[in-house]
Amino acid sequence: MRFIHITDTHIGPTPDYALRGVNPYRALADLVDQLNALTFDVDFILHSGDIVDDFTEESYRTARTLLEKLKRPVYYLPGNHDDAKAMQRALLDIKRPKARYDQVIRSGGVEVITLDSRGPLDPGGLLLPQQLQWLQEQCKPKGDPLVIALHHQPVHLDSYWLDQGGASWEAGRFMVLKNHTEFLEAIKPARKRLRGVLFGHIHCAFQVVEQGILFASAPSVAMQFYSWPDQQDPIISEEPGGFNVVTVNEDGIIVRQHYLKRQAISS
Ligand SMILES: [Fe+2]
Ligand SMILES: [Fe+2]
Repeated sequence: MRFIHITDTHIGPTPDYALRGVNPYRALADLVDQLNALTFDVDFILHSGDIVDDFTEESYRTARTLLEKLKRPVYYLPGNHDDAKAMQRALLDIKRPKARYDQVIRSGGVEVITLDSRGPLDPGGLLLPQQLQWLQEQCKPKGDPLVIALHHQPVHLDSYWLDQGGASWEAGRFMVLKNHTEFLEAIKPARKRLRGVLFGHIHCAFQVVEQGILFASAPSVAMQFYSWPDQQDPIISEEPGGFNVVTVNEDGIIVRQHYLKRQAISS
């Protein structure tokens, strides 16, 4: 089974919306063209959150004008820049949206659990007790190969601003999934069939192996951050946007990063 992992498109209400010197709409338009031109089979596309930049239904409608051109099914989970209910209404046509948007996708003999990890204090992440309970129930030792996806990073990444929060940020603000220890406990029983935990949010591609589990992020489609060891605050990188191609099978997982051509900084 093979899918594309995309993340952090940060679309605004209008196509000319600018985000820190880039045009997210143009970046997503490029991505859509590239994904539609892929010459290999892909089962679906998974978006790991920050679909829009400003929580509004208008921005989801703008994003939709591009995302609905994709030729494969797209699954979404919300990030800290998303409003889960607005996302369900304006992007997915769900009439009675849920407050927390978790789902299980079954495709090609693989199970993919997506989690809504939005925390009470932006930009941090938190899973609610009932979500952890539900996750634990899903993470039985036996079953199909499993992938778990969420927006916030559930591991430390050896970069001060990602692990502790930016040095210049007000107290209490942080980037990580706060209850990552409980998350790891919940998923541990499924370790033998768990092929990887995928995330977005940090606008940089990372690979971490902790307790024998692979944790991997995709680059943002729109704009990247540097996250060097000891770096105290986020710094915008000039690296281009991109996506990951993820292949999952009985033996393991292959995560391949691909970068888009970098757009000129303007608008
Ligand atoms: Fe983001
Ligand atoms: Fe985020």
